[in-house]
Amino acid sequence: MRLLGTAAVVTAGALALAGCGGSDSGSGASGSELTVSSAYMPQPVSDSMAAGFLTIANKGGTKDELTSVTSDVAGSVTVHETVGSSMEEVTSLAVPAHGQLVFKSGGNHLMFEKLKRKPMQGEKVTVELHFAESSPVTVEIPVKSATYNPKTGH
Ligand code: CU
Repeated sequence: MRLLGTAAVVTAGALALAGCGGSDSGSGASGSELTVSSAYMPQPVSDSMAAGFLTIANKGGTKDELTSVTSDVAGSVTVHETVGSSMEEVTSLAVPAHGQLVFKSGGNHLMFEKLKRKPMQGEKVTVELHFAESSPVTVEIPVKSATYNPKTGH
């Protein structure tokens, strides 16, 4: 009777990482190995739907998976992948060990549906990311102009 090695290495305390999704403030306290950066939401043109983008970095040596997303502004948030010129809803996306899961315009994106209010430029939208292994991570996503492009800043 021997134990099978690696039980969950995940510890609590990931909530300490919540808060500003902006510039990373360095040293990860113990807990989650995941950090979120470059989050933004273009101000939606639609009253019912919006998109969101961010980057999830995994400093740990274990792969994780983004399994669901919730938000205070939307009745439903789904994860979409762009395949060719169309997009498909997916149930999860991998966050590779020592790697990144990137959501960007033209690629993976978060889809906010059934909006409870229309996010306006200058506001922030709260999003909770749920993972297969790590504790949930809360991100404040700033709402940018409808035509915002992170490369140019507009
Ligand atoms: Cu989509």
